[in-house]
Amino acid sequence: MEKIRTGIYGLNPLLDGGFNRYSATTIVGATGTGKTTFVTQFLHRGLEEGEEAIYITLEEQKNQILKEAAEMGWDDLKDFIEDGTLVFIEAGGMEFSDFIKEELPEFVAEWEGIHARIAIDPLTPIVWTAQDKYKQRELISTLFNETKKVGTVLSTLEEHGTFGDLSGPETIIPMYLSDTVIHLRYVTKSTTPSQDRLKGMGLAKVDTMMRIVKSRSSWHSAISHPYSIFNGIGLVIEGVDVGLEHHKFPDDMKEKLLKKFEKLPKEQKEKLKSMVENLSTQDIGTMNPAQLMSLILNEYDIELG
Ligand SMILES: Nc1ncnc2c1ncn2[C@@H]1O[C@H](COP(=O)(O)OP(=O)(O)OP(=O)(O)O)[C@@H](O)[C@H]1O
Ligand SMILES: [Mg+2]
Repeated sequence: MEKIRTGIYGLNPLLDGGFNRYSATTIVGATGTGKTTFVTQFLHRGLEEGEEAIYITLEEQKNQILKEAAEMGWDDLKDFIEDGTLVFIEAGGMEFSDFIKEELPEFVAEWEGIHARIAIDPLTPIVWTAQDKYKQRELISTLFNETKKVGTVLSTLEEHGTFGDLSGPETIIPMYLSDTVIHLRYVTKSTTPSQDRLKGMGLAKVDTMMRIVKSRSSWHSAISHPYSIFNGIGLVIEGVDVGLEHHKFPDDMKEKLLKKFEKLPKEQKEKLKSMVENLSTQDIGTMNPAQLMSLILNEYDIELG
């Protein structure tokens, strides 16, 4: 799977290198958590690499977004607009849902495969245009599937529930249909052991946390990470040690496993061999390789020794 750098400092190592190209990611969060900053930073990073960027805004006006981006240090966005590499589409929820139903495939046929970065900020008014859940699902599904042909998609979703636990009805369908979901939220006190651990590391003052809820076809961090927004820099995930390599399943352990499989019937042996081949190229994150090996052997009743 080809990875593209997210542009968010500290995020790539938590996603095994970045977003998968031609995938759809949704950033869910309450007002002010930094969703617009996130997508702008993502587009800006692509523009720096010479990629095309499309910003579909359904709420804030282009000039307002440009003004806020300039304050954040991305004042070169207007140059990219002049070059034609950054395109803004200012749309209301209703008119944009008509566009999805009627004109999107034509638009996509024209732009297919250009490796653009596409931001939809916020997706919420589009979700609201559909009267029932079935229509909502169809609309969002068409939007994601079509835009993914043009590039890597990042949409934002407002979280209106008061608990910040993703239980609100407005977020559920787009979350299912996204390849990756990132949750930005405010925290007032630690609610999980991992947050306690971070507090123990001297990160106690942080009051915003980021968690990758899911990421299809990619290893991803499973814990909550504190983040900040800095003027002139943008969004930064804190406490990420980029020098720390994630575990790969070690080659010597792979050989050991393969030897153990020798006793198994031929067909089963072949199956397990291919599983181990896959495993050795995969990032197993924070899982202890020895423990993983013992679990596999246990499942097939093979003596560890
Ligand atoms: N120039 C800046 N310097 C430092 N922090 C900033 C700057 N601009 C914005 N922020 C921070 O980012 C937050 C707002 O970010 P952003 O507009 O991206 O949020 P949002 O999630 O899109 O909000 P909404 O749902 O209301 O659209 C502010 O509350 C502030 O903490
Ligand atoms: Mg916003």
